[in-house]
Amino acid sequence: MSSVQKVPILGSETIHVGYGIQNHIVQEVIATKASSTYVIITDTNMARTEPFKKLLADFNTKLGVSRPDSRLLTYYVAPGEESKSRETKAAVEDFLLQKGCTRDTVILAVGGGVIGDMIGFVAATFMRGVRVIQVPTSLLAMVDSSVGGKTAIDTPLGKNFIGAFHQPDYVFVDVSFLETLPARQFINGMAEVIKTAAIWNEEEFSRLERFSKQFLAVVTAPNPDIRSIKDDLVKTVLESIRVKASVVSSDEKESGLRNLLNFGHTIGHAIEAVVTPEALHGECVAVGMIKEAELARYLGILSPVAVARIAKCLVAYGLPTSIDDKDFLKKIGFKRHHIVIDTLLQKMAIDKKNDGSKIKCVLLESIGRCYQLKAHQVSKRDLGFVLTDEVLVHEFSKDATPATNVVIPPGSKSISNRALIMAALGSGTVRIKNLLHSDDTKHMLDAVSLLKGAEISTEDNGATIVLKGNGGKMVTCDDQLYLGNAGTASRFLTSVASLVGINSQSSNHVILTGNARMQERPIGPLVDALRSNGSSIEYLKNTGSLPLKIEAGKGLKGGKIELAATISSQYVSSILMCAPYADEEVTLSLVGGKPISQLYIDMTIDMMKSFGINVTKSTTQEYTYHIPKGAYVNPEEYVIESDASSATYPLAFAAMTGTSCTIPNIGSSSLQGDARFAVDVLKPMGCKVEQTATSTTVTGPPRGQLKPLAHVDMEPMTDAFLTASVVAAVAVDGTQSTSITGIANQRVKECNRIAAMVSELAKFGVKANELPDGIEIHGIKIEDLVTPSTENRGIKTFDDHRVAMSFSLLAGLCKDPVLIQERSCTGKTWPGWWDTLHTKFNVTIDGYEPEGVSHTSTAETNENKSVIVIGMRAAGKSTLSKWMASFLGFKFLDLDEFLEQKLGVDIREFIKQKGWEEFRKEEAIVASECFAKYSQGYVLSTGGGIVEGEEARNSLKSYVKAGGIVLHLHRDLDETVQFLSADTSRPAYVSEIKEVWNRREKWYDECSNYFFYSSHCNDELEFKHLRNSFTNYIKTITGLKTVEIPTKRSNFISLTYPDLSEVESQLEELTYGCEAVELRIDLLKDLSESYVASQTAVLRKYVSLPIIYTVRTKSQGGKVEDEQTEQIEKLLHLGIKLGVEYLDLQLTYPQSVINNVLKNRKFTRIIASHHDVSGSLKWDNVEWRNKYYQAVDLKADIVKLVGSASTLQDNLLLEQFRHVNHITPLIAINMGEQGKLSSVLNPILTPVTHEKLPFKAAPGQLTVSQINKAFAEIGGFVNKKFWVVGSPIEHSKSPDLHNSAYEKLSLPYTFDRFESANADEVYEKLIKDNSLFGGLAVTMPLKLDIKKYTDELSEAAKTIGAVNTVVPIEGKPGKLLGDNTDWIGINNSFTRFGVPSIEYADVNGLVVGGGGTSRAAAFALHKMGCKTIYMINRTASKLVEIKELLPANFNIEILSSDSELAQAKPISLIVSCIPASAPIDEALLTKIEKVLHNGIQQKNGGFTPTLLEAAYKPSVTPIMKVAQKFEWNVIPGAEMLVNQGERQFQIHTGYTPPYKVIHEAVVGN
Ligand SMILES: NC(=O)c1ccc[n+]([C@@H]2O[C@H](COP(=O)([O-])OP(=O)(O)OC[C@H]3O[C@@H](n4cnc5c(N)ncnc54)[C@H](O)[C@@H]3O)[C@@H](O)[C@H]2O)c1
Ligand SMILES: [Zn+2]
Repeated sequence: MSSVQKVPILGSETIHVGYGIQNHIVQEVIATKASSTYVIITDTNMARTEPFKKLLADFNTKLGVSRPDSRLLTYYVAPGEESKSRETKAAVEDFLLQKGCTRDTVILAVGGGVIGDMIGFVAATFMRGVRVIQVPTSLLAMVDSSVGGKTAIDTPLGKNFIGAFHQPDYVFVDVSFLETLPARQFINGMAEVIKTAAIWNEEEFSRLERFSKQFLAVVTAPNPDIRSIKDDLVKTVLESIRVKASVVSSDEKESGLRNLLNFGHTIGHAIEAVVTPEALHGECVAVGMIKEAELARYLGILSPVAVARIAKCLVAYGLPTSIDDKDFLKKIGFKRHHIVIDTLLQKMAIDKKNDGSKIKCVLLESIGRCYQLKAHQVSKRDLGFVLTDEVLVHEFSKDATPATNVVIPPGSKSISNRALIMAALGSGTVRIKNLLHSDDTKHMLDAVSLLKGAEISTEDNGATIVLKGNGGKMVTCDDQLYLGNAGTASRFLTSVASLVGINSQSSNHVILTGNARMQERPIGPLVDALRSNGSSIEYLKNTGSLPLKIEAGKGLKGGKIELAATISSQYVSSILMCAPYADEEVTLSLVGGKPISQLYIDMTIDMMKSFGINVTKSTTQEYTYHIPKGAYVNPEEYVIESDASSATYPLAFAAMTGTSCTIPNIGSSSLQGDARFAVDVLKPMGCKVEQTATSTTVTGPPRGQLKPLAHVDMEPMTDAFLTASVVAAVAVDGTQSTSITGIANQRVKECNRIAAMVSELAKFGVKANELPDGIEIHGIKIEDLVTPSTENRGIKTFDDHRVAMSFSLLAGLCKDPVLIQERSCTGKTWPGWWDTLHTKFNVTIDGYEPEGVSHTSTAETNENKSVIVIGMRAAGKSTLSKWMASFLGFKFLDLDEFLEQKLGVDIREFIKQKGWEEFRKEEAIVASECFAKYSQGYVLSTGGGIVEGEEARNSLKSYVKAGGIVLHLHRDLDETVQFLSADTSRPAYVSEIKEVWNRREKWYDECSNYFFYSSHCNDELEFKHLRNSFTNYIKTITGLKTVEIPTKRSNFISLTYPDLSEVESQLEELTYGCEAVELRIDLLKDLSESYVASQTAVLRKYVSLPIIYTVRTKSQGGKVEDEQTEQIEKLLHLGIKLGVEYLDLQLTYPQSVINNVLKNRKFTRIIASHHDVSGSLKWDNVEWRNKYYQAVDLKADIVKLVGSASTLQDNLLLEQFRHVNHITPLIAINMGEQGKLSSVLNPILTPVTHEKLPFKAAPGQLTVSQINKAFAEIGGFVNKKFWVVGSPIEHSKSPDLHNSAYEKLSLPYTFDRFESANADEVYEKLIKDNSLFGGLAVTMPLKLDIKKYTDELSEAAKTIGAVNTVVPIEGKPGKLLGDNTDWIGINNSFTRFGVPSIEYADVNGLVVGGGGTSRAAAFALHKMGCKTIYMINRTASKLVEIKELLPANFNIEILSSDSELAQAKPISLIVSCIPASAPIDEALLTKIEKVLHNGIQQKNGGFTPTLLEAAYKPSVTPIMKVAQKFEWNVIPGAEMLVNQGERQFQIHTGYTPPYKVIHEAVVGN
């Protein structure tokens, strides 16, 4: 029999562990637990497995022999957490009672934790308690749930809420049961194992670290066979059980010590509560462990190394470490939205392990040890911090900031990398301290141990690396050396590998490889140098990059080596470090001038000295070194100097706060360039700097007394310029600014750092500008710093650690907390930076969570990739391409013009001389050149005939293949013909145009991946609308605009017309109350591509809603034949080309069609649909669930399931289905008369019909109005009341506007006037205790006063300083939001009157007037993208005030003098906010006329300059008349009113109001 190990618990050895011990189990039970009845209970999964069958068979046999009078009963329950219920428990009890079980019954609970918990609880209460024996079969159950006697069941209100302590008589852990455990469950159990080791047993934790690779390989293999890791598994289980058993023994009822087992569970449980059942317990606990470890680190208890170690271990076992982990996200899908701090904190507070509102966490002190051996109460603030990736940094208040500090930043990266290589090549044991743990060091350590260069271990809980070097003797190994994307490691190891000897047992070469990115990075010059020195190195893939095959046993010849000085200093260091091991003494000459990065070369040489090799500089030759032969001798200890770039942050902190900070391990002898920062930058700015050879102390002057530096060249310390910039931001001295130069390389780091500093400094009100190789900063007084607005998302870090750390310093000087995004980016060099700020500098930091963050975007954006435009002559390529270039911020290039320049003659002339063929050849060459050369940031417009040549077609196709956009532009052919015949300057091929089109159509199609059909424009305004819909289209297909899936009640209308152009005028009305519109392609009268495209164009012209593109087949209730696969696929691809927002993907399409569509969909959202037309599937049929999960697995964005109802009951079944299936948003409805209720209850995108449609898309469909009425009837809507408040308001149009829309949409709301000039009265009478209060429209004089009753203000309301809309905040009863919609009224009026998107164009605006609306106007112009916003008024003093109140990045300039006016840039947008009842002041009028005149002359932005009048009475105002005189486009004030009302309605109700209806209500009479 296999060996059995016994673990004591609560005083007796009742836990037995072994492998394949069924026999032993049976033996023990029957021998020691006498009973008349044994009951084995398991789940149906287990019942099928061999180990279980063996147990059962053994039991029967043995029982027959030993206790023939006893009986064995079996009972199987359904698998899964659902079985841990009252119902299942009752069923088991009934079974036991029926079978006449009594007090002497022995129950064996064989299964995972579900069986153990539930059956354990049955045993605890059956006959007031019977004996139970636990036979755990899942890893989790073995190491956790079966040990300790806790039993429980779940209730709908929470897991494990009802249960008992009931110790089992035995726990038999037979590890062989794990043979059949699914991989995910296996990995899930490992989370608890790792947790237990982490809190209690460092040695076991280290063993687990080593075991991970083998474990994962075995359990995730296609047909896992765990026997090969049997011993390790038994050990793993045993060690974990030992800890749990000993903890339980000392604290059975969980009062103290046992709490430690909850490490990772406080946060883990909270996450689990949200994402169960999609994520498993262990997966959530893994994330929880990391967060709780980070919490301990944040509190200064746990070291960063330990946190990194736990994370690494979890990852190595295939567990997630963050909720944003890719695989984890895949599992939890849509539920990611629900993981928000508030919810988590709430869940933590009600977790039964926590008492009341106090939240407790186990804080790890080191691996294997918990802080003070208990759980600690932690603050919500600190939890909030660790749970989010954005932070609010509070003011570094004078009282809280310690006067002196000592900080040791993480080790230097360069020194860490070098030390490892030398130690690995050296002889003797060295203890390396303060090593920076990075990708580079990780890969180097792995490589060194594979090559047997050194034995590597750790001490001090991983903080010290112990290397026992082999004196440079290394041998080949079987594995390839995989280096990920670790650049330095690849360079250093390439030379090291050439020293490797042959291991006769293994291969005769070393292979260095890396990830895809690494396989593009250069290494050529180093390889060349090594080759010429005797190494034999082969490129296995791309010449000049990894992977490399390096022949072993060759070594380096030595002697004279020459290297170009201008190449990377890493190559030089790599050769330097290996040079002592060459056969002959090496003389290394750097030729070709001054070497770059001399400092790094000096650093290498200096460090070599510490390891016993003295490099000497040639006395005769420049840049030449002699390296003696020899071997490194490892010092006993090597402490890595801290990173000098990192050290700049704590030093700057001292400088900026007038305190003192010491870095004890960086001083004047440091070879890191950034070590000069204190002396070269901080000292001249007024700090006191004391430096020894090895330490630096900076003491800042009293706050506010830093002096600017007229000029500093930071070339030797470029990385520190960001720190210098934030210090300079608060260094003032009259008008002096600080100029930093020598940092041009910083434009191409993690981001363009110079640009980033300029843009983010501006948010603090600090002006900075770029210099050719630097930055100039105009420092301001600390008191004048502006707090960057949180609503505007605070400070962007561009995912750059240095940007984040620098701005965290400036943030602390602002009075209000400053939001910093992506805080975890500091992990690159200093994961513990925020912890240092918090614990050392005593800074208060809050976690921050942006609202409504979307995590489901399907694809990255198109980035900066150029767009190529093709299409027939006269399709509008030039015009539309120019539009596109302007709103994408791209350059425009006309290929024909480019070609003419190249040829030196006019194209027609060329063709005349050389013929068409020659021309096409040239065209193809130029095309492929341009596509390659201008692949970023261009719109390339091509000649109509480009697709005629095969070569050019191939260039276009490969552009598409590489992920670029080739857009086919088209318009109606008849129109094209007309247009061309009118244009006599073009070669007339009028009569042949159709023929040409027929020939080219398929080519255009196959060469393009997008298709835009321009609809016919009857007038100027329609032309402008075309521009808007084209803009929309391009933004959608480039991913600049994401299609947001509705989260509120919403509908879409199904259009069932054969030809939309016949009902054009009705289209808009049909969509009232809808958030999308479905185009049923299968119902169109013609399915040709150009017809379908023209239909989408018609739709887009009249309706701006997202399009749902549906090709419904016969079997699903549509018209297309199911067998026409080819046509279906073609139509679906057309949909994607047309950039439709949603595509309906029937689950009945052939798999190949589905796959192809999903592959090509880019930004189009997928609605995976299934219709049960037969009506035979009831909603409790498992088929529906299968369909749902099929769609989820396809990663559809929305699932749409349509069944039918024959009774009302069918709708209730559907609601139950809806209730439990919510990973992906679901549209589920029943067709048929009886199914109407389901449409009323369906939450998002309910399909609706309209009275005017020719027929309903599906039987039983309702209209928006019917749905809303019905929903209101059954109490779905509250009959809300709204008011306009202010005085005087008798002429207010708001009631008409809102009421007309309520009526149209059948919303049960009312909107009245409430005249009052007193905010208190408004609150008392309308809002307080009014459960029907729906919202307010606020007018003068209450726009300011009402603010005191609001709890939150929108960004607009805050910036504009006034509130015109009030609504209750959803989910926060009694709280009110104040918003301001005036600005959006201005923006949308401009857009509706044809002003295009101007974000990237050089357009400036003007606000006339100095009242409240002026601020809204400035805000609007800024939001639109105006570069400079001018303001003008009769009296300028008011404007100065307004300018002060608005953010600096609005770029407001006041025009008061004539010279200012003369210097102003041309203006294309004006908002007039002066009273319209009186004539305009003479002087002001003159100025306005000048602006109007200049504007029309210049037409900046390529559109007619436009003036919006904010006043709406009289309907034509004096300023409108003047503007008309200057031929400006003029928008009357009523438009602004309607447009702001439209948004107000959306804020009030969540619905979009019918535009024409509200327009009519305001403007109509
Ligand atoms: N009592 C405690 O102290 C304690 C501690 C931790 C967890 N729990 C409870 O344990 C439960 C989770 O336990 P679990 O993870 O074992 O879940 P589980 O019992 O649902 O098992 C997971 C899945 O694996 C299957 N399975 C189990 N063993 C198998 C085997 N050997 N071969 C093939 N399939 C096998 C099961 O049928 C099930 O589908 C939760 O309800 C949790 O609350 C209790
Ligand atoms: Zn657990």
